[in-house]
Amino acid sequence: MAVTPTTYGTSTRPPRGDYAAARADYTCEQEWSRYSAEEHALYARLYTRQARQVPGQACDEFIHALRQLGSEREIPRFEAISATLRRATGWEIVAVPGLIPERAFFALLASRRFPVTVWMRRPDEFDYIVEPDVFHDLFGHVPLLFNPVFADYMQAFGAGGLKAHDLSALEYLARLYWYTVEFGVITTPRGLRAYGAGILSSVGETAYALTSMKPQRLSFDLERVLRTPYKIDDFQHTYFVIESFAQLFDATAPDFTPTYRRVSALPTLTVQDRLPGERVVAPNPAIAPG
Ligand code: PHE
Ligand code: FE
Repeated sequence: MAVTPTTYGTSTRPPRGDYAAARADYTCEQEWSRYSAEEHALYARLYTRQARQVPGQACDEFIHALRQLGSEREIPRFEAISATLRRATGWEIVAVPGLIPERAFFALLASRRFPVTVWMRRPDEFDYIVEPDVFHDLFGHVPLLFNPVFADYMQAFGAGGLKAHDLSALEYLARLYWYTVEFGVITTPRGLRAYGAGILSSVGETAYALTSMKPQRLSFDLERVLRTPYKIDDFQHTYFVIESFAQLFDATAPDFTPTYRRVSALPTLTVQDRLPGERVVAPNPAIAPG
């Protein structure tokens, strides 16, 4: 379907990020009044659909925090979320025009500010979008920032990102981001649950990540993750499973400088390699969530 300007309804916002309006740290104003009724309605439709698959499939921490995003009927005001979030964990969210340079991204995380893309996807991107938009960033990432341990992990990630940048090791650290923050899976007494934003903001991938026989699920191992590349345009072939956010925080707390050195001497794996001795974590039985 051809995308015409009318797809935007009455929105006065440019379709994709306006970087000219951003500050030196890449933050900008949300300009909430510029969202069109169509954009609010699209957010509401996305929210309703994704919220429906959260019970029984997202981790409890995510489910409990979801209501903190405010009304599901319209794109929230970032200041309102920040006010609640600041009280919970000292984090806030800041508006950005879209993807920003890695260094700027990590600098924001290191100061407990999560960048949220201001623009809304087009209706023809309802099921799938490659770049993060306001829905992915809010629905996928913000709930876990209300969890104290995950909140600290994200700040440590920011500091680690700045360090990795200086060590030219971002390629490795990006994999850790991918396999935890975006596509992380966690074990619970009631089976596997998703906590990664890329899983929880995607229609098809939640059930796939937890129940499909196709991908492999491996216990989280830091060096293994740093060696594993990823695909950005397909469901994942490998998921890494953590036991708790505390485990994730502790496993990633040590200085990565020697880790990067070790890993860079090892061959990079493929997205679906299995190493000798590696055992897979069994998927959940494929039953209706609830
Ligand atoms: N410990 C890491 C380092 O020294 C920093 C980090 C923490 C990175 C948590 C990612 C997540 O580089
Ligand atoms: Fe994301």
